[in-house]
This record gives sequence, C-alpha cells and structure tokens, in this order.
Amino acid sequence: MDLPQILSCIATELEEVEQQIVTHVPTEIPLLTDVSQHILRSGGKRIRPALVLMVAKIYDASSPEIATAAAVVEHLHTATLLHDDVVDQAEIRRAKPAARLVWGNDASVLVGDYLFAAAFSKLVRIGNLSLLEVMSLVTNLMAKGEILQLTNANKFPNQEEYLEIIFHKTACLFAAAAKMGAILGGADLAEQNTLYEYGKEIGLAFQIVDDALDYVSADTSQSGKTVGIDFQERKITLPLEYLLRISDAKDQKRVYEMLDTPLILEEHVQEVIAMMEKYEVIPYTLEVAGIYARQAQQRLEGLPDSIAKQALQDLAGFIVNRYT
Ligand code: IPE
Ligand code: IPE
Ligand code: MG
Ligand code: MG
Repeated sequence: MDLPQILSCIATELEEVEQQIVTHVPTEIPLLTDVSQHILRSGGKRIRPALVLMVAKIYDASSPEIATAAAVVEHLHTATLLHDDVVDQAEIRRAKPAARLVWGNDASVLVGDYLFAAAFSKLVRIGNLSLLEVMSLVTNLMAKGEILQLTNANKFPNQEEYLEIIFHKTACLFAAAAKMGAILGGADLAEQNTLYEYGKEIGLAFQIVDDALDYVSADTSQSGKTVGIDFQERKITLPLEYLLRISDAKDQKRVYEMLDTPLILEEHVQEVIAMMEKYEVIPYTLEVAGIYARQAQQRLEGLPDSIAKQALQDLAGFIVNRYT
C-alpha cells in the first residue's frame, strides 16, 4: 500500500493542514519567506501531521485545533530539518538543493529558529496545557538527540546507544504527534500512552529504515538525499554498527581505515556498500525495523476498530516497506 492510499481517510483534513503549513508564515521579510517557502513547499511526506490527524480520527474528533496542532508538528519538524542540514553539511534535501546551499548556514539556522518559535506561538493560542507539555518535552528531547549524536561522532556506539539517539532525534516526535492526536481526540490517559508508544515504535522503525536507505538508494530520487552521507559524516548508524560487529578482521580493519581517512570519497562509500551487500547488512537492518513496526501494530490491538486505526496499522507497514 502506498502512502496516499494510507492517508486517504484523512485526505480532506490533510488538505486544510497543508494550507496552514505553507501559508501561516509571515511575508514581510523576503529572506524568511524565501527560505521557509523553499523548504515548506519542497514535498515532505507530511507523516507527522498525518499521525496527529489519524489518531484524532480514531476518536471521531473534528475540532479546528487538530489541524492547528498538526501544522505545528510539521513546522517543528521543518525547523529541525533546516538545523540538521547545517549540522550534517547536507547538500540535498527532499531532492532539491538544501536551503543552506542556496541561502547559507546562517539563514538556515535563523529561519529554523523562526519556524520553531512560530510553532510554539501557534500552539499557545490553542490554550491546551497538556499539548504544550508534550511539545516542550519533545523539543527538549530532540535538541538532546542532535547533541548526543554530535558527541558520538567518530565514536562507536553500541546498539543501545544508537537506539537512544534515534529515539531522541526522531522517534520522540512521532510519539508526541500521536499523543497530541490522542489528547485532542479525548482519549483517556492509558490510551494516550498506548498511542505515544505506538508513535515511538514507528518512529524508531522509520529512522532505522532511513539509515538503511542511506546505503541502498540507487540515486537521490528515492530518498531525496545524498547516498552515503552518513558514512561521509562518520555517523555510526545501525547498518555500520552491524557491519563492524559481524565483519571479519580484515574487512573491519578496512572500514576503520576508511573512517580514519581525512576525506571520505565516493569510492569509499561504494566499497562500504559492497561490504554491506556481502554481509547482508541491509536485510538485517530492515528486520530490526520490522520488529519495531510489528510491536507498534500490536499496541493498537486494544483500541476499537475503525478505518483510522487500520490506517495506522498500514502506516507501520509502509514505514518498513518504503525502501522498495
Ligand atoms: C526526515 O524525515 C528526517 C528523519 C527523521 C529521517 P522525513 O523522511 O519524514 O522527511 P520529509 O518531511 O518527508 O521530507
Ligand atoms: C534526522 O536526522 C533527525 C532530525 C531531523 C532531527 P538525520 O540526519 O539522520 O536525517 P536526514 O538523513 O538528514 O534526513
Ligand atoms: Mg541529516
Ligand atoms: Mg543529522
């Protein structure tokens, strides 16, 4: 099942959110408009706002606050992408030149800050303290995640440390999005927590697949990002951690050697990709992602059946199959 099919049960709501995402940014400063419009209109998948909408839909909720919260979540996500591309020195985002390449790092950081602040002021206007609590916690966690990752560059985290990083940088926002949908849907605390855990698990699966895609996409059209950038940045993600764990001494030494070279080249990336094929690293990585996605699906079993619940089940499936 493809993403538009999964999202069809919230198609109308998502259109409204899309409007808010692209129009609710002021236009009086041209640089702010240019940078924010560049990234906001560059074709993100909108998975996080969709999560807010789908979860609220389980409860048949339909207040205007739901669309607002969904747009807030996407603005926060967009802010982190602008910042992340500066930190990662990325050149491509969503199959287009990264904002930092067109307008520079300074503009990317500042517009990221602006979107972040704008997200919060929008949320404050809803006037729901529980939502604010969820959002302030998640921004805290996400900032920690990028710092943790920075501290771990060139170090070799074990799987536990890797999972901690991806929870912070990615999964907690999925979790928060699902929980916000649950709060606005009027779910009780136990269900809010169940949906938080569901979001967390699909978020972990999502980042693990993203880390696999970094080594498999034949060209940038599939992921919209540069292949091998994690290796070039010496970022130890699950595929690389597993490769180092299971490869023989000779191959392991070679990987370390490459990670030690001052400039990691395209040919090094190709060599690592070939090694990953030899040791079947990508199937392993996707298997781990699959475990989290299935756990997420099982979490939902206690909730009443509905089209929206089925869509959430399908979303978990899509996340692990999106590499095809
Ligand atoms: C990119 O997220 C950042 C990660 C957590 C890997 P998405 O893949 O959801 O990005 P867009 O919004 O669809 O571009
Ligand atoms: C994504 O980190 C998480 C955030 C945006 C905070 P990555 O660096 O792994 O994501 P991509 O690969 O650039 O999208
Ligand atoms: Mg990045
Ligand atoms: Mg990053």
